[in-house]
Amino acid sequence: MTDRTPLFTAGGSEVNLADPHFFTGDRFLEVTREARRRHPVAWTDPEGEGFWSVTAYRPGREVLREPETFTSTRGMRLGARPAAVAAASGRMLVVSDGVDHQRLRPAHARWFAGRQLAGLAPGLRDTVERRLRDLVARDGPVDIVAELALLVPSWVLFTMMGVPAQDRDELAALTAAGFDDADTSPAAAAERAAAHAGVFDYFFELLEQRRADPGDDVVSTLANSVHGGRPLTDDEVVLNCVGLLNGGLETTPHAISGAVLAFARHPEQWRRLRADPALLDSAVEEILRYTSPPGHAMRTATRPTRLGDAHIAEGDRVVVWLPSCNRDEEVFPEPDRFLVDRRPNQHLGFGGGPHYCVGAALARLELRCVLAALLGQVAQFHEVAEPDRLASNFLNGLQRLDVVLDPVVDAVSPAAGPRR
Ligand code: HEM
Repeated sequence: MTDRTPLFTAGGSEVNLADPHFFTGDRFLEVTREARRRHPVAWTDPEGEGFWSVTAYRPGREVLREPETFTSTRGMRLGARPAAVAAASGRMLVVSDGVDHQRLRPAHARWFAGRQLAGLAPGLRDTVERRLRDLVARDGPVDIVAELALLVPSWVLFTMMGVPAQDRDELAALTAAGFDDADTSPAAAAERAAAHAGVFDYFFELLEQRRADPGDDVVSTLANSVHGGRPLTDDEVVLNCVGLLNGGLETTPHAISGAVLAFARHPEQWRRLRADPALLDSAVEEILRYTSPPGHAMRTATRPTRLGDAHIAEGDRVVVWLPSCNRDEEVFPEPDRFLVDRRPNQHLGFGGGPHYCVGAALARLELRCVLAALLGQVAQFHEVAEPDRLASNFLNGLQRLDVVLDPVVDAVSPAAGPRR
């Protein structure tokens, strides 16, 4: 008989990490801190569909680095629809392993390498700086999520994919709706499925256009790439376009808004960075560690194995809680402090092993551009209301963050204090 102990508990009672609403509160970090100390690999059994929860850095990294034992092909997140996983498995990068993964990954490489990204940087910088000038000039609070954080990755991705301006808002809304896990009712699940289908339909149409009239964009590149002796099929091109959209649109905004919140709550770190902009790169890494936008990465065991003290059975799901791994006190001294000069900082914000984020260089570029623009224009951030956290165990972030931005060139006299 399989031994599924210890059980994931905190304060003596079982915690349901499969419940998206658990994440709207602020207990996750406290609960996982206790889990790391007591049982860093523990069985979590929400309503009988259990999984192993990995909350410590070292076993988490081990899971991510060993795809032969812990496969992604049966889904990489809790709550994904089995039919959707089955349709994408072996054909979409993030749910492929072995030869399929090795065939698909180089097809993405060209667009995420330095030269291509360098071409994007001036337009991105300009877009961010212009938007920020508007926001800083605003008399009163701005919602950083809606007004800045969502803009940056969507501008980048839609530009890379050559999505026409008039289609962008609708495509972004459909992508977000496809990920909205808060409502678990069958009606909401049907709406999510319809939103997913809308995104796919859009890319099938775009692919048809690009096959007829190829351009210098991600869709045309994927459509024309030959790997493993054959070109990608239409289904593979579209699945991977959707994968890029999901990967890029659902993560970076949370790093950006999380960074603003962190600087609002740790103003001395903003002053430190302003005084020494050479810390920009280490600040970016600290933002990735501290905000950890993906809440988890899931795998399925392909064979019986041990992880720490736990006996994992073949077929068991294993969920690595990345924000918890990134606060592991055995790896990060004073893990709950936000420190722009933290070094070393080998966080798992981008995962690890073969599925290490293919968009990592792009995400870093986006964060550097946003930070540089903020440094040039914002003297201080003031949080004016408690932020709204997303109800999701997969996307660790905010859905609203109201802040006042004090301009660098002070339009008000220091005695007048911050604008509200
Ligand atoms: C702050 C921003 C980002 C964070 C924190 C992040 C995080 C991650 C993580 C943790 C994984 C590993 C998932 C796993 O192991 O199952 C991953 C994979 C991936 N990410 Fe990102 N990501 C970010 C931005 C992006 C961007 C901008 C793109 C593309 C436009 C992207 C596309 C992908 C793709 C396609 C994969 C799958 C890679 C593979 O399976 O080989 N991500 N990302």
